[in-house]
Amino acid sequence: MENDVEVKITESPKNVAKRVGKAIIELVKNSGQQRVDIALSGGSTPKKLFKHLAKKYQDFPDWHKVHFWWGDERCVPPGSKESNFRMAHKAFLSQIAIPAENIHRIKGEANPEQEAARYSDEISKNLNDLDGWPVFDLIILGLGDDGHTASIFPSNMQLFDSEQICEVAIHPDTGQKRVTLTGRVINNANKIFFMVTGMEKASRVSEIMNNEDVAMQYPAYYVIPGHGKLYWYLDQEAAEMI
Ligand code: 6PG
Repeated sequence: MENDVEVKITESPKNVAKRVGKAIIELVKNSGQQRVDIALSGGSTPKKLFKHLAKKYQDFPDWHKVHFWWGDERCVPPGSKESNFRMAHKAFLSQIAIPAENIHRIKGEANPEQEAARYSDEISKNLNDLDGWPVFDLIILGLGDDGHTASIFPSNMQLFDSEQICEVAIHPDTGQKRVTLTGRVINNANKIFFMVTGMEKASRVSEIMNNEDVAMQYPAYYVIPGHGKLYWYLDQEAAEMI
């Protein structure tokens, strides 16, 4: 584990959501920038975060400065219950005053390969770059119980070192196609928040944080920001074995 990592353990998933929510608000408030670009994670963990942001920060005056992106999306229509966009929009983005153009949805209904190229281009056109790669102010990531992150699965490890900003990945169990940010973009972010809760993630968290050999097969193990800072937001269950 790199030494410029902060691990923040909170007793419950609800309080992890509150802590991450507060950190996002502080990041936007203190950015000193006219614009803040944040990539959201998918899956079920961030739902509590989105609901908390909508409830506690609905009237936050600077939402118009924030541009929301996704770290990955399932190749399904935006109305699908599997859509990461749908979950964030329903629980959060539809509840705050944010210009529609600030919501940069991965078009899950489009041809995956074409959408990976289109989204890469949209990111390039909108974000500053450093060392030739776009810079997100914050990327929020989840951790799969197989050690995947975003939609970079152990079976798609090559995507971590892709020369593309986005790539098409394939879920190893379902065969579902996904569009995902790749490793070089993830590691080029100013801040990366891993947000991980639940007993079922405890082994992966421990193996990654303790640099165990088995972690070398996990894409999440290679999330090491080049110039930015990595934060792990964990509940007590996910942190039990570290
Ligand atoms: C996705 C996510 C994925 C997720 C992990 C954890 O599209 O599913 O981006 O990387 O963060 O699989 O998922 P849970 O939060 O549901 O455990």
